[in-house]
Amino acid sequence: MVTGGGKNIGKAIALAFAREGANVVVCDYSGENALQTAKEIEALGVGVITIVCDVRDREKIFAGVKDAEVRFGSVDILVNNAGGSAALLGKLTRFADAEPETLDFVIDTNLKGSMHCAQAVLPGMIQKRAGKIINISSIAALCGLYDRVDYAAAKAALIGMSKALAMEVGEYNICVNCVSPGAIQRDGAHWEHMTFLGEHGHAGTPEDISDAVLFLAGQNFITGQNIVVDGGRTLGPGHR
Ligand SMILES: NC(=O)c1ccc[n+]([C@@H]2O[C@H](COP(=O)([O-])OP(=O)(O)OC[C@H]3O[C@@H](n4cnc5c(N)ncnc54)[C@H](O)[C@@H]3O)[C@@H](O)[C@H]2O)c1
Repeated sequence: MVTGGGKNIGKAIALAFAREGANVVVCDYSGENALQTAKEIEALGVGVITIVCDVRDREKIFAGVKDAEVRFGSVDILVNNAGGSAALLGKLTRFADAEPETLDFVIDTNLKGSMHCAQAVLPGMIQKRAGKIINISSIAALCGLYDRVDYAAAKAALIGMSKALAMEVGEYNICVNCVSPGAIQRDGAHWEHMTFLGEHGHAGTPEDISDAVLFLAGQNFITGQNIVVDGGRTLGPGHR
């Protein structure tokens, strides 16, 4: 199950799992995006269902997971990818000026949405004594990001959530990890104009992230970790 699976990083992750032969649940609040990904997954010959809802909508997430468990038997891997900053509302601003509704939106989308999804799939994973939860954080969690205090805080909280939850569910053979992307191409745009590109001088691709997610999905002895995939952007100041 991939949230925000309708485009860019989430879509790359959903397609990567489909190519590996997994049935995929695509959750996205854009029905159009979800259906487009679903069409491409179907063409790969695996099963797909879409949950068209906002990850903030706890009831719909639980109902969608129930449907997925009926159709596919179990949800074995959850990738909490849906997220974004106040840019989604056109409301990027200095923290001192941020409206409380905007703070709620960013925290609820990135953090609480991931918690809802994790709580929805955990009973099935605990019963099966197997599962993987992979949360998509951001290098903003590690270094901060201008005009996005709420986003940096929510993404850092995802790393904390992953560690604490990894402790609780280890006895059930469930691994919980994070992947923290740096600047990644979106809608094919390369973002050369941006200042937070990697040491390689360009943005990464959605596939750079799906490769890391697929790796973690195949590991049974890595848990509570955060893999940074940023082309070296967060390396220290030891330049030549
Ligand atoms: N692109 C980057 O450079 C970058 C860098 C660091 C972290 N990230 C993180 O990676 C994830 C994906 O980023 P992206 O650039 O592919 O995003 P995007 O905005 O290009 O796509 C996000 C997808 O998720 C869906 N979505 C958004 N909010 C949702 C919600 N509340 N409920 C359900 N669906 C929702 C959208 O409809 C869209 O299909 C996000 O969590 C983002 O914070 C991205």
